[in-house]
Amino acid sequence: MQGFQFRQACMEALDELPGYDWSGIYRLEGDTLVLDAYVGAETDHTRIPVGRGVCGTAVAQQKNQVVEDVTQLENYLSCSLETKAEIVVLIKKDGAILGQIDIDSHRRGAFGPEDEAFLSGLAELIAARWES
Ligand code: SME
Repeated sequence: MQGFQFRQACMEALDELPGYDWSGIYRLEGDTLVLDAYVGAETDHTRIPVGRGVCGTAVAQQKNQVVEDVTQLENYLSCSLETKAEIVVLIKKDGAILGQIDIDSHRRGAFGPEDEAFLSGLAELIAARWES
């Protein structure tokens, strides 16, 4: 399995994990993140400029983001009023950002270093099978 089909299967697997209430991938196209495979509620944020929200900040800073409480953030794009915590892990190939894995949780403080490490491993698998 390759490309979008693999990414969608990964998001479906993540959706089974406790506390993973919205699981998705954004592709980086120029200066814009474009919603790709996802499982969860529909979101208005299908295109996010680099620098906007948690997702755009991850690209601007070239750094994964782990947010314990999104209600404390000013630069946040709300998908659901139920969301309390968010993690964004970059997907890279040869140092270049291809996109990111974005997970929302309804539980404050849901994500920690174990989630970041686990999702970083998954991001490598996804990067290796990026082309569809
Ligand atoms: N909350 C994100 C937007 C994407 S949704 O969570 C699906 C952000 O602040 O960038």
